[in-house]
Amino acid sequence: MRVLVLGGSSEASALARALAGRGGVEALLSLAGATKSPAPSPIPRRIGGFGGAAGLAGFLREGRYGRLVDATHPFAARISANAAQAAREAGVDHAIFTRGEWLPGPGDHWREVDAIEAALAALGPARKRVLLAVGGAGLDALARDDRHDWIVRSIDRPVASPPGARWIEGRPPFALDDEIALFRALRVETVLCKNSGGAATRAKLDAARALGIPVVMLRRPALPEGVRVFHALDEVLAHLGLHAASP
Ligand SMILES: NC(=O)c1ccc[n+]([C@@H]2O[C@H](COP(=O)([O-])OP(=O)(O)OC[C@H]3O[C@@H](n4cnc5c(N)ncnc54)[C@H](OP(=O)(O)O)[C@@H]3O)[C@@H](O)[C@H]2O)c1
Repeated sequence: MRVLVLGGSSEASALARALAGRGGVEALLSLAGATKSPAPSPIPRRIGGFGGAAGLAGFLREGRYGRLVDATHPFAARISANAAQAAREAGVDHAIFTRGEWLPGPGDHWREVDAIEAALAALGPARKRVLLAVGGAGLDALARDDRHDWIVRSIDRPVASPPGARWIEGRPPFALDDEIALFRALRVETVLCKNSGGAATRAKLDAARALGIPVVMLRRPALPEGVRVFHALDEVLAHLGLHAASP
């Protein structure tokens, strides 16, 4: 069985680990090349775009892949749409492996918005210290916004960021105590983040709740229709006809 795993997420890394060394399985992990130094991969890896849906369909056909698992980040909407189209074109079995989204609970003060422009509006007119935890990409819309004191946290230094923004390097996972200490030290007044879901970056929400800090939360883009979606590794493995990963 030849499996192409579209990665760039902790789900893809977990799936790669679970597929490594399995008899009868040849798996390839594909990364966009967004992170300068990606973590080592336990399975063969390629890096770089395919050239749209048509390019990906060609890649699947030429590589004789029978299975495509889209384990990209929940906000990587373009590659997910391309994957759905390419899998249809190439007649390849296609599944999505993604983490469940975060939900607000008692004590949370969230404003949920659909786009970065709406997030800016939700911040209101008063100047505040905003922790931008949206990754290095997607900051273009903020590149000229000097209405707030921005603190940008990302793995790599962002290409574009708001004027005067302070950059903090940060690679998940983040721990609650560290987040609380950081928020206090930087006097964070609002968090602006994506509803990425998952445990690795959840602590910022728990810290915001503990400190009574409001959160402006970007909702996820819609997933392509008609594709099976799995949230657990064992479910994806079962879908591929494989037994669960050993603990
Ligand atoms: N967006 C986020 O918040 C976020 C956060 C963490 C990690 N990531 C990861 O970073 C990557 C880029 O994110 P994005 O939001 O820029 O994606 P995107 O807008 O959906 O995709 C942009 C282009 O990057 C290429 N690409 C994306 N993922 C790829 C993959 N796994 N393998 C090969 N090519 C890929 C494709 O180029 P072609 O059209 O040329 O094929 C795609 O059209 C994704 O793989 C995602 O999993 C994203």
